[in-house]
Amino acid sequence: MAKAKMKSVFFCKDCGYESAKWMGQCPACKAWNTMVEEVVSSSSKAVPSINRTEPIKPVKISEINLSEEDRIPTGMDELDRVLGGGIVPGSLVLVGGDPGIGKSTLLLQMCRNLADNDQNVLYISGEESPKQIKMRAERIGKFDDHMELLCETDLGRIGSVLESKKPSVVIIDSIQTMYSEEASGSPGSISQVRESTAVLLKLSKSLGITIFIVGHVTKEGMVAGPRILEHMVDSVLYFEGDRHAAYRVLRGVKNRFGSTNEIGVFEMREEGLAEVKNPSEYMLNGRPKGAAGTVTTCSMEGTRPILLEIQALVCQTNFGYPRRQTSGADINRVNLLMAVLEKRLGLHLGNCDAYVNVAGGMKVQETAVDLGIAMAVVSSFLNVPVDDRVLAVGEVGLSGEVRAVSMIEQRVGEAVKLGFDTVLVPKVCIERVKGIKGCKIIGIESVSDAIRLIKEDV
Ligand code: TYD
Ligand code: MG
Repeated sequence: MAKAKMKSVFFCKDCGYESAKWMGQCPACKAWNTMVEEVVSSSSKAVPSINRTEPIKPVKISEINLSEEDRIPTGMDELDRVLGGGIVPGSLVLVGGDPGIGKSTLLLQMCRNLADNDQNVLYISGEESPKQIKMRAERIGKFDDHMELLCETDLGRIGSVLESKKPSVVIIDSIQTMYSEEASGSPGSISQVRESTAVLLKLSKSLGITIFIVGHVTKEGMVAGPRILEHMVDSVLYFEGDRHAAYRVLRGVKNRFGSTNEIGVFEMREEGLAEVKNPSEYMLNGRPKGAAGTVTTCSMEGTRPILLEIQALVCQTNFGYPRRQTSGADINRVNLLMAVLEKRLGLHLGNCDAYVNVAGGMKVQETAVDLGIAMAVVSSFLNVPVDDRVLAVGEVGLSGEVRAVSMIEQRVGEAVKLGFDTVLVPKVCIERVKGIKGCKIIGIESVSDAIRLIKEDV
């Protein structure tokens, strides 16, 4: 091969946009100051070459058999759920998350379970020595002989090991430490991350090996390296949570073999990650009784209803400008709801500070929690507690009307399961939940209805 000519190009750190010259703003994703210079060899093609000696032949779609056994269970229901029912052989999965959140621990635990089920697994680490991994493994438990470790960062060598050993599952921890000779730049640079993923993709598809790639996340919450990585893999899972809180959420953001938006909930313990089978119970733990400003609501995470406690603290502003602060809830949504309460109910919230918190550290994006937030704010403002056996769901519109929410049956079902007495639902949804026994269901037409209920003490 002729000696490759080196040239310098600029990549956007966020989206992978390529340009011949530096720019202050990326024209593709409009982010500022994200272009970085990298040296690439102009003759090397990033596309992996495929062995073309065998004639290629299309197959009839009707001749392809699908069976459930094709999936390998990971031994952790929460992980299986996010993967869409287990590992699909030959798939490429990206696991992203902040450093120290527990990615290596999660995958190591998965490896242990797989090895116990006689699957050959190979854990390749570019970050830690075998001793360090062993130390972590000691905390998790006993490992079977089917599990092997390799500390290597050269993908050429890793490729030959995979070809000779043919394990069924491989972990690459992490993609930012791997390098391929095909690409230039240091490990972790955009061209290296991209090329390394391309090499792993080729290995996984040609040998039928499932590869889990660990990717570190930047401050902005994206896997370091271009977005392109997310397009190349079959599934993308994000492991998130507050490092100081014990619970962790594994979220599927892309899945070629199942639904996305599914979450798995874990708790970080001394002896590794434990599955949280009933997140609602976990989130509601330690709920205060008879305190003003707390209301329970329900948010859907994929197909799973999760009950959450919304806490609000509303008090008189001491300095001219009222403070509004939220944690776990969208601040703009809270401002909007408070404006609705002010206008439609005539509550003087304009000169009040308000703090809204989703207890347990969960983040909610759904508008179905609106009614819960509105009730918590009013309850704190009036200093009248809402009964702790009441749950409220509903979206609040700008005229104060309570609008329909999706999957109301599941939400009410979860409330009944956890022993709630009364569920406030949007009036338009009441037909759908009429058949559910075990609690009183009240249809709410507008926020003022709900507030009247607080005052009457439901
Ligand atoms: P780790 O899996 O190394 O994170 P990542 O690979 O995402 O960087 O997890 C590190 C954290 O988890 C560390 O702060 C210690 C904690 N931890 C426990 O609390 N219990 C355990 O059993 C293990 C293995 C780790
Ligand atoms: Mg790690």
